[in-house]
Amino acid sequence: MSLFQSDHMTTSPAARSIAVLTSGGDSPGMNPAVRAVARIAIRQGFRALGYQNGYDGIFDDELVDLTAESVSGLLERGGTVLQTSRCQRMMTAEGQAEAVRKLRAQNVDGLVVIGGDGSLTGALRLTELGFPVVGIPGTIDNDIHGTQMGVGVDTASNTIVDMIDKIKDTARSHRRCFLVEVMGRGSGYLALTTAISCGAEVAVIPEYRYNMPRILEHLAARFRTKNKGSLIILAEGVCSAEELINKMKEVDGEHVLQQEVRKTVLGHVQRGGSPSAYDRMLATRMGELAVMGLLQSETGTMTSLRNGEVTLVDLEYVLSRKRTISTTLTRLAKNMGIEFGDTVEV
Ligand code: F6P
Repeated sequence: MSLFQSDHMTTSPAARSIAVLTSGGDSPGMNPAVRAVARIAIRQGFRALGYQNGYDGIFDDELVDLTAESVSGLLERGGTVLQTSRCQRMMTAEGQAEAVRKLRAQNVDGLVVIGGDGSLTGALRLTELGFPVVGIPGTIDNDIHGTQMGVGVDTASNTIVDMIDKIKDTARSHRRCFLVEVMGRGSGYLALTTAISCGAEVAVIPEYRYNMPRILEHLAARFRTKNKGSLIILAEGVCSAEELINKMKEVDGEHVLQQEVRKTVLGHVQRGGSPSAYDRMLATRMGELAVMGLLQSETGTMTSLRNGEVTLVDLEYVLSRKRTISTTLTRLAKNMGIEFGDTVEV
């Protein structure tokens, strides 16, 4: 549905408004995306609004005016100035219908939702109920089907690499084996890509079944021949660092490692920090396209990065498939000598 055709549209063009919200786990780059949506909406003659606290802001009437001045200085800020939540009310059919009533009562003509798959599911439901929405993938996990990158993935990857480089200094100095647990929910993308970027010996990811005897042999071989310290990157979606270490101890009857594995859980540091130049660009490109999508009736869609181009893809298509790890990545990891498990997907 186009903003120019919407039956709830107010008559004066100056009063037409586009709102934006950030939802789910925050990701670096959400602020530049909010800035772009606001600036483009204003340029197109719309009033720009921001809901605070994610979808909850719709229910609680937490709506603020966004101006060119109020979104100034957002490019370099991590987190989301609009704040975010995992809104329970948007998870029910009654809540979704109530959200549409609220959006109309608040004189909002179109909505941009920035968030992960749960947030984008909410966006699809609103569109199905006749409200124009375009989504922007905003999550560090890179687990959204239909786009090669989400906003925040690059910054989170850089943070992980930065932290691991520091861990490697001490690992090498002490000839130790370190296990680093990274985020990603059910996805191994961050773990596998940072394993490649950091030169890890092992990556343990949910998409592939790990083989503990092989992991131990791989580490032991390195320990015997090079003695430089070694690194395992674990995706949180498999198990906790503690559990994996216990499993290692259980299987390592021969004590091939001859040492205690040290663990670091990176945690929420991965979600913070100033967005990288890449994320600022991606967020800005996606913010622009989201507003243009609303204006051109291409709603019920998500901005997507494909082969360097930002395009719109149907949300229904995006949400109907689970994103997998590409064979290009697994081949690269394998060729670089990373042990990441059996090629049978679990
Ligand atoms: O989806 C982003 C993410 O950071 C995941 O990687 C992680 O599993 C989850 O959010 C943590 O959520 P919370 O901050 O609510 O604990």
